[in-house]
Amino acid sequence: MTRLEPMTQARYDTWLAATIREYAAEKVAAGNYAEEGSLERSKGEFDALLPQGLHTPGHEIRSMVDDDGRAVGYVWFTIEDRPQGRVVFIYDIAVDPEYRRRGHAQAALLQVEAYAREHGCMGVMLHVFGHNTGARQLYAKAGYEETNVIMLKRVDR
Ligand SMILES: CC(C)(COP(=O)(O)OP(=O)(O)OC[C@H]1O[C@@H](n2cnc3c(N)ncnc32)[C@H](O)[C@@H]1OP(=O)(O)O)[C@@H](O)C(=O)NCCC(=O)NCCS
Repeated sequence: MTRLEPMTQARYDTWLAATIREYAAEKVAAGNYAEEGSLERSKGEFDALLPQGLHTPGHEIRSMVDDDGRAVGYVWFTIEDRPQGRVVFIYDIAVDPEYRRRGHAQAALLQVEAYAREHGCMGVMLHVFGHNTGARQLYAKAGYEETNVIMLKRVDR
C-alpha cells in the first residue's frame, strides 16, 4: 500500500532544485524564457508560489512511500476555485523511474481523491501535455475526463 507522507526538508530541497532546473529548461525550449537568466526566473516563480517552502499554507507536498518505507515519488496539490467549482488541483505528480508501473501513482491519486472528498471539493483536476501518453493512460484508467484539448496541425512551409 502506497502512503502519502509529508515530504522531509532534505527531500524537498533536492526536489525543488531539480524542479527549478527542469522548469527553466522547459521554458527556454518553449521560447518563453531566454537562456540567460532562466534559472533565476524559474527560481523567482517558485519563490512566489511557495514563499514558505514546504510549509506554505494551502500547498500539500507529499512523498509517496512504499511498504518498505522507501520514498518512491511525490505529489504536490492545492485546493483551488475553478469554473467547475472547488477542486483539488494537482500541480505535479511523479514516481521515480525504478519504481514505475507498480501502482504507486494510481494509489496516490485515490488518496488525493479522498482528500478532495474530505475537504468538500467536487473533484480533482490537473494539466497534462498531449505527448505524455503514459500519464494520460494513468488518468484515463483512474476515471479522469478531458475538459480542454488544444490541437495543432503542422503545415509544410
Ligand atoms: C506518469 C507516472 C506518474 C505514472 O506513475 P506509475 O506509478 O508508474 O503509474 P502506475 O503504476 O500507478 O500506473 C497505473 C496505470 O496507468 C497506466 N500507465 C502508467 N504509466 C504508463 C505508461 N508509461 N505507459 C502506458 N500506461 C501507463 C497503466 O494503465 C497502469 O496500469 P498497469 O501498469 O497495470 O498497466 C510516472 O510515469 C512518472 O512519474 N512520469 C514522469 C512524470 C510525469 O509525467 N508526471 C505526470 C505529469 S502530468
